[in-house]
Amino acid sequence: MKITVLGCGAIGQIWLDALARQGHEVQGWLRVPQPYCAVNVTDTQGNITNHTFVANDPLFLARSDLLLVTLKAPQVSPAVKNLQSVLAAGTPVLLLHNGMGTVDELRDLQQPLLRGITTHAAMRDGTVIKHVAAGVTHIGPVSRESAALSALADSLHQALPDVAWHDNIASACWRKLAVNCVINPLTVEHDCQNGALRAWPQQIATLCEEIAWVMAREGEHIALDNLRDMVYDVIDSTAANVSSMLQDVRARRQTEIDYITGYLLRRARAQGISLPENTRLYDMIKRKESHYARQPIGSGLPRSWQ
Ligand code: NAP
Ligand code: PAF
Repeated sequence: MKITVLGCGAIGQIWLDALARQGHEVQGWLRVPQPYCAVNVTDTQGNITNHTFVANDPLFLARSDLLLVTLKAPQVSPAVKNLQSVLAAGTPVLLLHNGMGTVDELRDLQQPLLRGITTHAAMRDGTVIKHVAAGVTHIGPVSRESAALSALADSLHQALPDVAWHDNIASACWRKLAVNCVINPLTVEHDCQNGALRAWPQQIATLCEEIAWVMAREGEHIALDNLRDMVYDVIDSTAANVSSMLQDVRARRQTEIDYITGYLLRRARAQGISLPENTRLYDMIKRKESHYARQPIGSGLPRSWQ
């Protein structure tokens, strides 16, 4: 297949590397106008690969069989909208990111749209992307046009296993959202690794109650005990991780809060429910973002996110 990967950071580079190894023709799409994209990946076994791929070629994009979007949530819809007129009408667009809400922002996209979440872990270390832990990528359709594209999961699975197809991807996204709503802002509040959150069981219980309430109203019933167990499983299996939100705050970058807790609060508001503890954490993260947006490192000038 011919595949364009939009966003060549940690997750984008492990996909570019894996897809190229599998014999797919790939290009990267970057924020900066540059005709090549350097990919340096250390795989989970410690093997290093360095490639240089074509980047930002509109002809390649127009002929692509898939646009794989590996951006952070706030970057997704502006970047996809920017490319939609070049993409062929039938080219599937797969959004692979944490959080929810981008599908609503892209509801007018004519191309078949798919959503995905992943438990692979990758991080930048200088100029190298370290694929820290293998995981599972769950994908599925979010438009009528993409419902018949389950064969895509098989092709992606050959390149970077495991990939699982879900006819109802919203359920998997809600479960991942629930985990992120608890772990991400709490690790910022307590400035700690994921595993240390076991010291705040009451806060975790309150957040889970609020989240389960919204999920039930969304038709995503989950027993409170199951939700709490799921959160503690991730806390334990990622105990040594610094959550992506805490990494963003430490680096004074925009976080994904508007697509994580922000999305939960938007759904709660639509249902007439108030969520005091999630609201408090959301406001805390937004205060931090606005503080460092006004006082960026190494500059006296305000910084725009775009
Ligand atoms: P990342 O390393 O920050 O990669 C995002 C890339 O997109 C960056 O290279 C960024 O370039 C680029 N970019 C920003 N705006 C762009 C634009 N308009 N056009 C093209 N490229 C643009 O993030 P990531 O860790 O790969 O995460 C991607 C998504 O996967 C997030 O939602 C994250 O939460 C999720 N996720 C990540 C992991 C993980 O282990 N990393 C695991 C599970 C889920 P600049 O830096 O130059 O702006
Ligand atoms: O955003 C993150 O950091 C991850 O999704 C998770 C699962 C919370 C582990 O750190």
